[in-house]
Amino acid sequence: MASSSVSFIIIIITTVLLPSLSSQLSDLFPSNNPPPFLGKHSHPIKQPNHHQQYHYETRYFSQPLDHFSFLDLPRFRQRYLINTEHWVGPSRSGPIFLYCGNEGDIEWFAVNTGFVWDIAPRFGAMILFPEHRYYGDSMPFGSKEEAYRNATTLSYLTAEQALADFAVLITNLKKNLSAEGCPVVLFGGSYGGMLAAWMRLKYPHIAIGALASSAPILQFEDIVPPETFYNIVSNSFKRESSSCFDTIKNSWNALTSEGQKEDGLKQLSKTFHLCQELTSVQGLSDWLNSAYSYLAMVNYPYPSNFLMPLPGHPIREVCKKIDGSPARSSILERIFNGVSVYYNYTGEVDCFQLDDDPHGMDGWNWQACTEMVMPMSSDRNTSMFPAYDWDYSAFREGCQEDFQVTPRPRWITTEFGGHVRQYNMLPYVG
Ligand SMILES: *[C@@H]1O[C@H](CO)[C@@H](O)[C@H](O)[C@H]1NC(C)=O
Ligand SMILES: *[C@@H]1O[C@H](CO)[C@@H](O)[C@H](O)[C@H]1NC(C)=O
Ligand SMILES: *[C@@H]1O[C@H](CO)[C@@H](O)[C@H](O)[C@H]1NC(C)=O
Ligand SMILES: *[C@@H]1O[C@H](CO)[C@@H](O)[C@H](O)[C@H]1NC(C)=O
Repeated sequence: MASSSVSFIIIIITTVLLPSLSSQLSDLFPSNNPPPFLGKHSHPIKQPNHHQQYHYETRYFSQPLDHFSFLDLPRFRQRYLINTEHWVGPSRSGPIFLYCGNEGDIEWFAVNTGFVWDIAPRFGAMILFPEHRYYGDSMPFGSKEEAYRNATTLSYLTAEQALADFAVLITNLKKNLSAEGCPVVLFGGSYGGMLAAWMRLKYPHIAIGALASSAPILQFEDIVPPETFYNIVSNSFKRESSSCFDTIKNSWNALTSEGQKEDGLKQLSKTFHLCQELTSVQGLSDWLNSAYSYLAMVNYPYPSNFLMPLPGHPIREVCKKIDGSPARSSILERIFNGVSVYYNYTGEVDCFQLDDDPHGMDGWNWQACTEMVMPMSSDRNTSMFPAYDWDYSAFREGCQEDFQVTPRPRWITTEFGGHVRQYNMLPYVG
């Protein structure tokens, strides 16, 4: 993800030739980084007020570590949240709404998925939130430290294993409740939405339908142009204000030249109220990059508190700050005012901590380095991010360095499909 942590190699230019603008700018693009998913946000901000809003019971279920072999491996405890308040039960075939847990603590998703809670009473439905393995409280090998030790212990962290967990859990639960006749409907957002769609495909006998929200199941291999994601994010800003888009687009250049000045990094650290002095411009550009990407992901029309406490239409608010800064403000001051909406909406942050986890072995980085290879480029004309062409070899090398693992960029499309092909079977006339 844009914010993450896989370190970026800054090419030191030693030739007398001036580097072209574009190659300077693409140094600012987090090319080695996994695609922008929730990753380091998978440790939710605690939101005690929400916990009172939704009621559920927390339970645990023993799962095989590997659904696809018969090795005698240790089992692990999968956490799931359950609410049966409105369920009309097996006699009336009350449906079961199953939210496919994604890359984070399941309580975080449960308290931020109001839709499922809102509609369950109308359908007399049971609500289930099973947690994704290797996240939250569902750790194999007894602890996060052990589970995330190396490529061997992490090798059971896959979408296929997670789907099998959901399938085994729901089958067992239905049996316990004599609810085999109750239909299961899947829900999910983002990676959880991908899981919902894929589960419906792979386990059609278990779920009668899936509602997959913001689920980029086509962001693989060569299915959509790699520029798609950053174009969508950029257009969300352009739609609010083209001068806001232009200011952000021009800011990378301003950032680079500021950073090259004597005392430039010190000055940047001051302008952006950072707790620690910058050691490179990259850290700051990653931080800005992820703010814009996350803002687009949570650009809800109402105030929310999913990734950060934010006002409704947060991109509009960011652009208001960027455009409405005092007339003599520099580009970078405007940018600072803008991203403060994302990082400091409550006004309670003393200074900004860019990255506390420089080589974070977080689960999404592992998933991105194995199955979830999502090519991402940034178009020099249509994107407000630094221009960048997807570089698979650089990505693969980053994965080998960080996890000693080689990605399989074709696996997801092989396993779940995605390419739409037209076949014509012509009769053979001999
Ligand atoms: C990973 O750690 C486990 C437990 O310490 C060890 O048995 C295994 O050999 C290690 N694997 C690799 C690839 O280092
Ligand atoms: C079903 O019941 C068994 C026996 O009590 C229990 O071990 C298991 O955890 C239950 N299944 C679920 C999904 O809670
Ligand atoms: C956060 O906002 C408050 C209130 O506007 C301000 O006093 C504080 O300096 C801001 N923090 C940072 C890190 O900019
Ligand atoms: C970007 O815009 C320029 C000038 O309008 C054009 O010549 C160039 O082909 C465009 N590049 C891409 C990648 O679209």
